[in-house]
Amino acid sequence: MALALRDYEVFRGDPEALPPAMLQCFQTLSPQPQVLRVAKLQEQIIGCYAMSMPSGGSSDYRLAMVSVVEEFRRNGVGRWLVGHAIGVAESRGGRELLASLPGPEAFFRGLGFAGGSGQFRFAMIPE
Ligand SMILES: CC(C)(COP(=O)(O)OP(=O)(O)OC[C@H]1O[C@@H](n2cnc3c(N)ncnc32)[C@H](O)[C@@H]1OP(=O)(O)O)[C@@H](O)C(=O)NCCC(=O)NCCS
Repeated sequence: MALALRDYEVFRGDPEALPPAMLQCFQTLSPQPQVLRVAKLQEQIIGCYAMSMPSGGSSDYRLAMVSVVEEFRRNGVGRWLVGHAIGVAESRGGRELLASLPGPEAFFRGLGFAGGSGQFRFAMIPE
């Protein structure tokens, strides 16, 4: 299904409203990320991301999860969600966004993340 940017919007998410597969993934995250945002196509959640804020002396923003419902993949929704996470982190003074996620590598590298093998890093202020 072809989607345009205006077809969906991003909202604060309630974990209990996530589709089962996303909820299951979200519930494995520990500690529970403070930021959960969902992309909605009308009333349907078609994607989400979760991000942890800096805590305990760490200055790291961490993308803990990004997921798009299978039938809506390859429409730019994942790219848009990660761009949103970068914007939220940057607006709060973050200097980089870490993603210890299994990939796909081409997705993260295409978004400007450095690294690989499940350890990606996006620098807000290029060195
Ligand atoms: C990874 C994921 C979030 C990408 O979401 P998406 O909405 O399909 O991604 P986009 O359409 O924004 O893709 C942007 C670009 O990333 C790359 N890309 C996306 N998925 C890819 C894949 N599976 N393999 C290789 N490259 C990929 C492509 O270059 C793509 O651009 P193109 O479609 O013009 O070729 C989605 O595939 C997903 O939910 N996967 C399952 C969960 C997962 O693995 N999450 C990552 C760790 S939590």
